[in-house]
Amino acid sequence: MALLKAWSKLSLNLLVFAVTFSGAPGITWIEPPDPVTTLGGTLVVKCITDCDQPLLIGLETQLDKLPENNGTRWRAFRLKNITQDSLLLCFANCNDKGQMLHSTNVTVIQPPEHVKLELPPRWILVGQNFTLRCQVWGGKPRQNLTLALLRGSQELSRQTVSEQDPRKVAEVTFTATARIEDHGVNFSCRAELDLQPQRLGLYQKSSAPMELHTFGLGTPRLTSPKLLEVGKEENVSCEIDELFPVKNAQIHLSLGGRSLSSSVTRSQDMLRATAIAAIEEGDREGQWELTCIVTLGDQNREVQENLTIYSFPLPTLVISEPNVSEGTLVNVTCEARTGAKVYINGTLQSPGKIAQLSLKATEEYDGSWITCQAVLEVLGEQLWRNKSLKLLVQYGPRLEEAHCPGNWTWPEGTLQTLRCEARGNPAPSVACVREKDRMSLPLGVPLKVSRALGGPYRCTATSRRGRAAKYVTVTVETSPGDSVLVIVGALLVAGFAVTAGTIAALCLRQSTRRDSYEVQMLPLRGRQAD
Ligand SMILES: *[C@@H]1O[C@H](CO)[C@@H](O)[C@H](O)[C@H]1NC(C)=O
Ligand SMILES: *[C@@H]1O[C@H](CO)[C@@H](O)[C@H](O)[C@H]1NC(C)=O
Ligand SMILES: *[C@@H]1O[C@H](CO)[C@@H](O)[C@H](O)[C@H]1NC(C)=O
Ligand SMILES: *[C@@H]1O[C@H](CO)[C@@H](O)[C@H](O)[C@H]1NC(C)=O
Ligand SMILES: *[C@@H]1O[C@H](CO)[C@@H](O)[C@H](O)[C@H]1NC(C)=O
Ligand SMILES: *[C@@H]1O[C@H](CO)[C@@H](O)[C@H](O)[C@H]1NC(C)=O
Ligand SMILES: *[C@@H]1O[C@H](CO)[C@@H](O)[C@H](O)[C@H]1NC(C)=O
Ligand SMILES: *[C@@H]1O[C@H](CO)[C@@H](O)[C@H](O)[C@H]1NC(C)=O
Ligand SMILES: *[C@@H]1O[C@H](CO)[C@@H](O)[C@H](O)[C@H]1NC(C)=O
Ligand SMILES: *[C@@H]1O[C@H](CO)[C@@H](O)[C@H](O)[C@H]1NC(C)=O
Ligand SMILES: *[C@@H]1O[C@H](CO)[C@@H](O)[C@H](O)[C@H]1NC(C)=O
Ligand SMILES: *[C@@H]1O[C@H](CO)[C@@H](O)[C@H](O)[C@H]1NC(C)=O
Repeated sequence: MALLKAWSKLSLNLLVFAVTFSGAPGITWIEPPDPVTTLGGTLVVKCITDCDQPLLIGLETQLDKLPENNGTRWRAFRLKNITQDSLLLCFANCNDKGQMLHSTNVTVIQPPEHVKLELPPRWILVGQNFTLRCQVWGGKPRQNLTLALLRGSQELSRQTVSEQDPRKVAEVTFTATARIEDHGVNFSCRAELDLQPQRLGLYQKSSAPMELHTFGLGTPRLTSPKLLEVGKEENVSCEIDELFPVKNAQIHLSLGGRSLSSSVTRSQDMLRATAIAAIEEGDREGQWELTCIVTLGDQNREVQENLTIYSFPLPTLVISEPNVSEGTLVNVTCEARTGAKVYINGTLQSPGKIAQLSLKATEEYDGSWITCQAVLEVLGEQLWRNKSLKLLVQYGPRLEEAHCPGNWTWPEGTLQTLRCEARGNPAPSVACVREKDRMSLPLGVPLKVSRALGGPYRCTATSRRGRAAKYVTVTVETSPGDSVLVIVGALLVAGFAVTAGTIAALCLRQSTRRDSYEVQMLPLRGRQAD
């Protein structure tokens, strides 16, 4: 509308020549080419032509104009009180080229009115690219309008706007890579209308600062046993690194949907939760999901693992009678949970969960342990449970040569101990009595051997389960005389090779019993050696 009004005011003089405008091109121009002014400002413009002898140079505008100066090929005009954008039309009437026209708009500066920065609404993962959108309302001339992205007070980048219509919102986008150090930093956008070269000033407008949130979030890892027994406790933990900012992160562990109370440790870029997973008696066996969730801002990372919950109590071992008389038939039964295999004393009795064994109680079994082993395979792993019971077998006294030797030969005058022990359950008592005079020989105590001790004895073992008897003969050797001491020389005669310096003596003693000699090597000390 403003433009139409401007054209309607143009003089008739111009319209006459306008017919030739397109047909006879010459060069006419305006200086400055894109005039800019402040509101209500004054501007001097020059209409210039290249034609040699122009008849007339003029300026058509709705603005108040005053001739300023002139030359052969130019005229300058002063335009005053410029309050709105206006069209300037310069014309030159030439003899040879006809009329030449040139138009331009004078722009009244409008500082940028409003600037808005839009950040991504979410937290941005460190290392990822994101875009920031900056919008500006108003601001002209648009050619001189730039938008700068600022991080705090530091300018990161700057772009000119492409939208040239000052009535429309101009928008630019910036791309940046999220960094740890950008977290919590205020970003802003600043519109700048820079007309300092024209000495018309610098007009700036900034957006409200917007805080950027960046984060780092690795993948959490779970540490836990694969198997968990009912009634037992196990440590489970979850750890995440490459985490930023650690203080804003939350970590949460749950098992089978139940939250685990965990203790959380934080370090520079790591977060760890440790908890005790306890499965109570009566809880369901099978797969339980262990879940770890790490939350940071509006982000979260989750990891899950299945724990196999099983129950495997000790097998039930029953001995029909754990304390029996010799010869009794004893039944041993062992039972484990379904799915387990049962062994009695290392032997698989039957492939099922119950094992049975019948055995005849003999004295060898007295005091022996019967062991039941149950084995359960869970996730390819063999789990064992053992239970043992002792079997007691009652049997009568046994007097055996090994523990009660029948022949004893003792040299007279020595200290000797008679041993005669009986086996049996309950433990029998043993007594040895000489038949001729009913003299009893004390057992297990040292005795000074005299001829009077000799003779046959009757040893009797007695317990609640009966008695056993055995003859034991004691022979007393009488000594013939003193031992003969023979010096080293005799040793050499006997054909022994003794190295120099060996000091020894040979002691020969005649045995009373046999025609034999015992040879003893005795070390000699001090005066004896001489
Ligand atoms: C050109 O300028 C001179 C002096 O400034 C003035 O006298 C003259 O009238 C001007 N010519 C036109 C055509 O305005
Ligand atoms: C400038 O122009 C405006 C309207 O275009 C007018 O209201 C105002 O009075 C003028 N000022 C002067 C100083 O001429
Ligand atoms: C002057 O401005 C008007 C409207 O803003 C536009 O249509 C025209 O093309 C402009 N003229 C020049 C020479 O820039
Ligand atoms: C982020 O942008 C830079 C250049 O601006 C580019 O080199 C890089 O590949 C981009 N990264 C991603 C993850 O898109
Ligand atoms: C303003 O825009 C004009 C036209 O594009 C240009 O010639 C001038 O250099 C610009 N000024 C600044 C300060 O950018
Ligand atoms: C960011 O801007 C807000 C709003 O102006 C201000 O409250 C906050 O302190 C600024 N933060 C920083 C780190 O400058
Ligand atoms: C769990 O970890 C703590 C500390 O490392 C340790 O003392 C405890 O014995 C563990 N408990 C189990 C059930 O493994
Ligand atoms: C855990 O087990 C359930 C059911 O057996 C299965 O659907 C799920 O995929 C398993 N999860 C993992 C992490 O193995
Ligand atoms: C075994 O049985 C016998 C007789 O029945 C009894 O005297 C003994 O005390 C029992 N032993 C045990 C350990 O019960
Ligand atoms: C042991 O088992 C056999 C057959 O399995 C049975 O006849 C006997 O009565 C059982 N004995 C005891 C003491 O349970
Ligand atoms: C079972 O084994 C133990 C030790 O190996 C042994 O002492 C016991 O006699 C065995 N019992 C049976 C019933 O085989
Ligand atoms: C004891 O010795 C005598 C004679 O040396 C022998 O006849 C007898 O069989 C032996 N008795 C035993 C129980 O060894």
